[in-house]
Amino acid sequence: MLFRQLFDSVSGTYSYILASRRGGEAMIIDPVLEKVDRYLQLVNELDLRLVKAVDTHLHADHITGLGALRDRTRCVTVMGENTKADLVSMRLAEGDKLTVEGVSLDVLYTPGHTDDSYSFVMADRVFTGDTLLIRGTGRTDFQNGSARVQYESIFGKLLRLPDETMVFPAHDYKGDTVSTIGEEKRCNPRLQVKSIDDYVELMNNLKLPNPKMMDVAVPSNLKVGLAQDQIARRGWALDAAQAIPLIGRGDIVFIDLREQGERDRHGVIPESQHAPYPELQRNLGAGELLNSFAGKTLLFYCAFGERSAMAVQAAQDAGLAAAKHITGGIDAWKKAGGPLER
Ligand SMILES: [Fe+2]
Repeated sequence: MLFRQLFDSVSGTYSYILASRRGGEAMIIDPVLEKVDRYLQLVNELDLRLVKAVDTHLHADHITGLGALRDRTRCVTVMGENTKADLVSMRLAEGDKLTVEGVSLDVLYTPGHTDDSYSFVMADRVFTGDTLLIRGTGRTDFQNGSARVQYESIFGKLLRLPDETMVFPAHDYKGDTVSTIGEEKRCNPRLQVKSIDDYVELMNNLKLPNPKMMDVAVPSNLKVGLAQDQIARRGWALDAAQAIPLIGRGDIVFIDLREQGERDRHGVIPESQHAPYPELQRNLGAGELLNSFAGKTLLFYCAFGERSAMAVQAAQDAGLAAAKHITGGIDAWKKAGGPLER
């Protein structure tokens, strides 16, 4: 596996690049806006293709790199389903898998620091965001945080991972880079409590100042969504109500860009074709799937309309002038009462 831990010294944030091989797909966890150039340079140097940018939670201390990475690489932006960010391409729930080629992480919902905090687990390591830090835990005094809920996330989920599991947090302010579950169980002063009430008492008396960037970072991080109106102004968008009557028409092909796990969980528009977004460029090539529908209107859809908006642009760039997408994706489709099958 290719694994890189990168540091932003201004906010004390760790970001992680993961891939299974040179030349393959990569993901980045918790990217910082100001470091985007550096991430992309490294991705380039390692001959990787960035396909997912993931945040463990809505950050209050730095502006996320998700939007900038999406705009520059057309990667998929990912957060947990409880996020209040306006729009990310993919939302994950506990039990889902976060995957790129050759790398698969289990999604754990670990609220408490915020109510949208998630951890991502591999066989030998866990990315804990701000839920579990090295010799610390993430503060629980804003963004719908709760010490009681965090105790359950830490003691009920993270500390049940094998002791040798490496812990990679989203922050460290002392220079520590990695720990293990066993080490944190023994040495993390916040975890040496006798009861949930002791933990709540400890966390509620930390009296921390608000993060310096909070008033800038939180509003900015709530608005990471791709502006879909530009695509609409070009006449390349249909809303769900306009798209529903088009099912079954021979001159229109519905194309689902989502991953299989999303299709299983939320259902599929009847008679649609599956062409996962990460393989879009290949599928647009001569003789490939999407090109075989020449002469028909390609109607792309995804979860929230972000991947499909990028796909329309790519298809138009590839000369498929009849490409459109469904604004708001399956989320909007469901709200409009559109039919779905499993
Ligand atoms: Fe945080």
